[in-house]
Amino acid sequence: MKVYDIPKDFKIKEIVRNSSQVVTLIFEGTLNSIPGQFVMLWLPEVDEKPISISLDDPEKNEIHLSIADIGPVTHKFCEEMKVGDSLGMRGPYGTSFSLSGEAARSSESVTTSSDPVQQSHAVQDSEQAGMTLQHVAMIGGGCGCAPMRYLAYEARKKGVEVDYYIGVRTKDLVMFEEEMTSIGCNVFVSTDDGTHGEKGFITQQLEKNLAAKKVDKIYTCGPEMMMKVVADIAQKNEIPAEISMERYMKCGFGICGQCCLDDSGLRLCKEGPVITGERALQSKEFGNYHRDKMGIKHSF
Ligand SMILES: Cc1cc2nc3c(=O)[nH]c(=O)nc-3n(C[C@H](O)[C@H](O)[C@H](O)COP(=O)(O)OP(=O)(O)OC[C@H]3O[C@@H](n4cnc5c(N)ncnc54)[C@H](O)[C@@H]3O)c2cc1C
Ligand code: FES
Repeated sequence: MKVYDIPKDFKIKEIVRNSSQVVTLIFEGTLNSIPGQFVMLWLPEVDEKPISISLDDPEKNEIHLSIADIGPVTHKFCEEMKVGDSLGMRGPYGTSFSLSGEAARSSESVTTSSDPVQQSHAVQDSEQAGMTLQHVAMIGGGCGCAPMRYLAYEARKKGVEVDYYIGVRTKDLVMFEEEMTSIGCNVFVSTDDGTHGEKGFITQQLEKNLAAKKVDKIYTCGPEMMMKVVADIAQKNEIPAEISMERYMKCGFGICGQCCLDDSGLRLCKEGPVITGERALQSKEFGNYHRDKMGIKHSF
């Protein structure tokens, strides 16, 4: 897989509004990525931010990045970009979700590494390899629905049955509901305030559905407290899970140490962002705290 470590310009061919907070920038080109991977998106003279790939379609020659307007840089991406503008991208970086029953896998070989973190990852890979997936659940919280969307497209292409869960605070923030239904996913929506779908947390629908029928694997991306509940549900039901865990990132490819998890030293830009639910639950940071760009701890 070709990785651009120096930003390459990609031109915006279309901009789609998905919700009151999220827009998808559709770029001309392809990255040959795997669902779960991310790019460092660069606006010259402003900043560079990690953004998950929401779709990478070589047939249409399109890369989709779905971005939530939550801060100064994402605001510029969402509100100031026009069709015809270009942005720089580095990547694709990080581990990806696996649809073959294997654990989260890096785009690079992990089996030949002398890095103990990567070696233990490789052991997990081989332990879980070989499972045939027929029915999976994907749980997206807020903008976490974006990498789940890319994964859902790939799963449907392989004929896998997909339960696609969308959890958001309110109706205006629901995204991809019709699109995911149109590609054949079973879609479940929850809003905290009950303005659309079921009232409550999306994890309640997941738990209820699993009591009736188990799935082969669970994937999740979204707010960490939601993912912690998903990981606990997966563990309780003995279902393998893959989790996209975010931390503040600077270099995006493993050299600055900004995104390392305490104790294990696991670099989430390199050995993550997609890690197994088991590995996430072993981390003392998961669901407890994260660090800002100054390294200062913040509780969730
Ligand atoms: C691997 C990865 C993939 C991502 N994919 C997407 C995506 O597909 N779409 C999208 O909209 N955003 C995504 N993000 C988050 C995105 O990079 C941040 O929202 C962005 O950095 C915010 O930048 P800002 O300058 O606009 O706001 P800032 O002022 O930097 O941040 C706004 C708020 O968000 C918090 N924050 C920022 N980054 C993180 C983080 N990594 N973890 C926890 N809190 C954070 C800040 O502490 C602050 O409270 C991803 C992050 C990572 C690490
Ligand atoms: S962001 Fe630099 S090591 Fe991960």
